[in-house]
Amino acid sequence: MSTALPTPPPTWRDETKVAEYLGRIGRLEARAEGERELVAALPPDVRRVLDLGCGDGRLIDVVRAARPGVEHAIGLDVSPPMLARARANHAGDPVVEIVEHDLRSPLPVTGPFDAVVSGFAIHHLPHERKRALFAEVVDLLRPGGVFVNLEVVRCATDTLHTEFETLIGRPGGDPEDVLAGVDEQLGWMRDAGLADVDCQWRWRGFAVLTGRGVGGWRNTKQLHRLEPPVAVELLVFEVRTDAFAAWQMAEHEHWTLALADRFPAMLDKQTWVQDLGEWQRVSVVIGWRSVEEWQAIDTGWLDEQEARLVAAVGADAYRLVHAGHESGVHWYRTSEYR
Ligand SMILES: C[S@@+](CC[C@H](N)C(=O)[O-])C[C@H]1O[C@@H](n2cnc3c(N)ncnc32)[C@H](O)[C@@H]1O
Repeated sequence: MSTALPTPPPTWRDETKVAEYLGRIGRLEARAEGERELVAALPPDVRRVLDLGCGDGRLIDVVRAARPGVEHAIGLDVSPPMLARARANHAGDPVVEIVEHDLRSPLPVTGPFDAVVSGFAIHHLPHERKRALFAEVVDLLRPGGVFVNLEVVRCATDTLHTEFETLIGRPGGDPEDVLAGVDEQLGWMRDAGLADVDCQWRWRGFAVLTGRGVGGWRNTKQLHRLEPPVAVELLVFEVRTDAFAAWQMAEHEHWTLALADRFPAMLDKQTWVQDLGEWQRVSVVIGWRSVEEWQAIDTGWLDEQEARLVAAVGADAYRLVHAGHESGVHWYRTSEYR
């Protein structure tokens, strides 16, 4: 005797779930109210906006209706049927870019954005990823830019949550939900570095959670693993103190900028300076993507650059005291101040 396996519930990748959601959500008065609050939280001038878990692109349209100055709107989503609808809804619209992306991975976009919005999507991610995502959002916002998350949140008690689910026509909830309470999420948003974090509106299990991008300098620490084989180059120079300013400028132009311009394999360059009195000891560490790419650099070009530096500062202004190269697996930390 064979027993039929239970059918797994549909996911956001399934047409049935998407069609059911889109048929229901537009009719909810609480949703409309939440969208009005989302609009109220936007900055007066929005030119670039990012929508996390954009679905059929509904929120992008809401933002653009309220802020017609939007010049670039990017919507990210993982669901093929949602992506197909979002693309069809914005076909031929040069302002809207719909990108397939799983929000469980780091965001594939570069800032700055005036607004990062999201509607009922982030609660599908594990809590750890929510926290990391909030930190990525902070990095994408211009100072004073706004993160507005119209979200499904966990009500204070199971009884209240069950009532909420019944009211929105979703008894039992969504098996893909990973809900968190309002206070917990506001704490994560603050920890991520957002300013003016608050819950601006709440109706049962719907909430508008907002925070602002920070101004000034912020240190974003990132740990990178350079995949093997990488080449790390250590060069130590001694530069006459009285020629140091000129050497620094010329070195930047003829080496750092010239290398970065010509060789995408140059991953980074770090410099430390130690004051020895009459001389400055300069340690330079350069990371190369691979040994092969580093070795392929034309030595004739290197000699030309060195000649330019000598012409700019004079041969007696500096001397190379150590040159080391190694390859292997490296971890390095970068701190970006923005
Ligand atoms: C409830 S719908 C909301 C859609 C739209 N933002 C709205 O306001 O109507 C949730 C959306 O989140 C998307 N989503 C869920 N998990 C995701 C993930 N890991 N990465 C990207 N999108 C995801 C789904 O595909 C779906 O489009």
